[in-house]
Amino acid sequence: MYVSHLSLADFRSYERAEVPLDPGVTTFVGPNGQGKTNLVEAVGYLATLGSHRVSSDAPLVRMGAARAVVRAAVTQDGRQQLVELELNPGKANRARLNRSSQVRPRDVLGVLRSVLFAPEDLALVKGDPDQRRRFLDELITARAPRLAGVRGDYDRVLKQRNTLLKTAAMARRHGGRKLDLSTLDVWDQHLARAGAELLAQRLELIAVLQPLVDKAYEQLAPGGGPAAFEYRSPAGGRFAEARTREEFAGLLLAAMADARKQEIERGVTLVGPHRDDLVLKLGELPAKGYASHGESWSFALALRLASYDLLRGEGGGEPVLVLDDVFAELDVRRRERLAELVAPGEQVLVTAAVAEDVPGALAGTRFTVADGRVERT
Ligand SMILES: Nc1ncnc2c1ncn2[C@@H]1O[C@H](COP(=O)(O)OP(=O)(O)O)[C@@H](O)[C@H]1O
Ligand SMILES: [Mg+2]
Repeated sequence: MYVSHLSLADFRSYERAEVPLDPGVTTFVGPNGQGKTNLVEAVGYLATLGSHRVSSDAPLVRMGAARAVVRAAVTQDGRQQLVELELNPGKANRARLNRSSQVRPRDVLGVLRSVLFAPEDLALVKGDPDQRRRFLDELITARAPRLAGVRGDYDRVLKQRNTLLKTAAMARRHGGRKLDLSTLDVWDQHLARAGAELLAQRLELIAVLQPLVDKAYEQLAPGGGPAAFEYRSPAGGRFAEARTREEFAGLLLAAMADARKQEIERGVTLVGPHRDDLVLKLGELPAKGYASHGESWSFALALRLASYDLLRGEGGGEPVLVLDDVFAELDVRRRERLAELVAPGEQVLVTAAVAEDVPGALAGTRFTVADGRVERT
């Protein structure tokens, strides 16, 4: 699939922008701070309902404006769809598909699929576990938009269970009413059920992604691997042997039972997929804390390339690949390798401050971005 037109209103630095796009490679070039990333961030937002740079919508709305609108015409297999999102910070966002009446934002997931790689992705390797959990959960949704609710369901149950535990912890300290343990039992069941679903989805994803990550790493940094995953859970390392949702739920319930005393003392849920980590390994060593800067960078890139490979191979339309400001960070050899790997993509959007950093294999269409204007050159 490819975006044939991108349209922004009051999004980030743009009061308005109308950008017609072709399939193949398009490069946006311009000095820093001119709005290159803002453009591709909008593409990423339409695909994932989130920004790769910020966790709330407020910064995405142009300073002084009340709302932002992002719209894209997406062509897939000769059929065009128009997808539109209106961002209303502090209020519900709205979505429209093909100019029709409103739909829920999550109903437009899958219309535009994209994989975005940006300097922020270094945090996938060097950052805290929440970065890697988010990576997994977003990819689950990208593969199957109908699963968009899985993480949401879990978070809702978790929040309610935490509220209950917190009240219990306060009561313990201040001699208030004692926690009704049968209520907690009920929330344990809810959490185990939602958690089992999320766990099953993650482990299934990891199994198919792992060989693709190793392959991508080998292509970027031959001989530097193997690049591997290890799913780590404080609920116990036995998930690898569990197969069914019931088994996952059983393991989670057992872990909650073990942790119950501590949970009531501390007033917070200590086991479950929200505490897990996806450990990234190069050979025997964890990448985090051990890998060099270059290795970490290659690993992050391999995670995105593997995601791209996975989504591309599964139907639903080849995703749009976005490479935001990545070539400046790579040495010439890796630049060339990356360019060769992605050049055949149906649509590849590249941003760079310096045109010479982008290898010739990715020549394509060129836009200049400066002073709030996006112009074809
Ligand atoms: N909500 C906003 N309102 C107005 N300007 C913004 C907003 N968010 C970001 N900007 C401006 O956008 C610019 C950064 O654009 P960006 O696309 O990240 O630049 P680059 O071309 O380096 O990728 C900055 O100058 C910043 O001040
Ligand atoms: Mg940028």
